[in-house]
Amino acid sequence: MLIHTIEKLRELRKSWNSSKSIGLVPTMGALHEGHLSLIKKAKETCDKVVVSVFVNPIQFGPSEDFDKYPRTLEADMELCNSAGVDAVFAPSPDIMYGKGNRLSNDTLTYVCPPFFYVNKLCGKSRTGHFDGVCTVVLKLFNIVQPDFAFFGQKDAQQAIIIKKMVKDLNVPVEVIQCPIVRESSGLALSSRNKYLSEEGKKDALALSRILNNIKMCFNKGITDIEALKETAYGYLTDKHDLEYLEILDKNTLEEQEKASSDSIVLIACRVDNVRLIDNIYLGEG
Ligand code: PAJ
Repeated sequence: MLIHTIEKLRELRKSWNSSKSIGLVPTMGALHEGHLSLIKKAKETCDKVVVSVFVNPIQFGPSEDFDKYPRTLEADMELCNSAGVDAVFAPSPDIMYGKGNRLSNDTLTYVCPPFFYVNKLCGKSRTGHFDGVCTVVLKLFNIVQPDFAFFGQKDAQQAIIIKKMVKDLNVPVEVIQCPIVRESSGLALSSRNKYLSEEGKKDALALSRILNNIKMCFNKGITDIEALKETAYGYLTDKHDLEYLEILDKNTLEEQEKASSDSIVLIACRVDNVRLIDNIYLGEG
């Protein structure tokens, strides 16, 4: 069922027996197997599943791809219907933020996650991005009132920041993180892969190769973080514009003296002028 308004969503939510558990999968649409893995996990965990499809303007910077971000609601609906989703919530920006409102924290209440978590990795180049993410996710939590919400490890910093928001603001939602879904080539699925040329897709394989190689070196006993990071250079060419490569604590994003089984390796790199991110845990998931 496709729902565009908050009132309709609330009506449906009320019509569900209160003993039923509700799962929410927040997305920006252009759904792929990565999103589908979250939906499947939600179906296994919950009685009712809501998928939100909303390209959230306030998490895009002024020079980012908000206008050209792929919007494929019809195909998304088909995928959700065949996965047994109970409701797809696809509001407009006017419905989410009020008609005529200037989208800024001058006029609207924003959720600001802590500087320590935001001032690194993606947050460093995407000023205000995680304020926009937390604000829309908290709004979706308040609108849908789910028991569980599902997020991908693909956006590891986002998942950590949302867990922190839920804990700090006592939000009664359990956050479940799901593993990264990849193409057989190793490329992590992303809605932004649609922007890549055939050539770019090949160059994009450097990200997962760098991560796998670092994990292999770690498994061989190398724990020096600089030495592990240096192994990346063999994979990078002039087609790659590396934004960051970091090895941090996988739960807190703190720096570590040495890599350990609690480490996560995170990379962001532009290929074909498309910004791609990926990560891997050095220990078990
Ligand atoms: P979007 O990029 O559409 O991603 C929605 C969810 O799908 C996120 O939790 C993301 O981590 C997960 N996901 C994306 N690619 C994946 C993959 N290859 N494997 C597993 N999970 C994957 O992230 C957002 O939207 C937005 O920031 C949102 C949270 C919806 C707020 O607007």
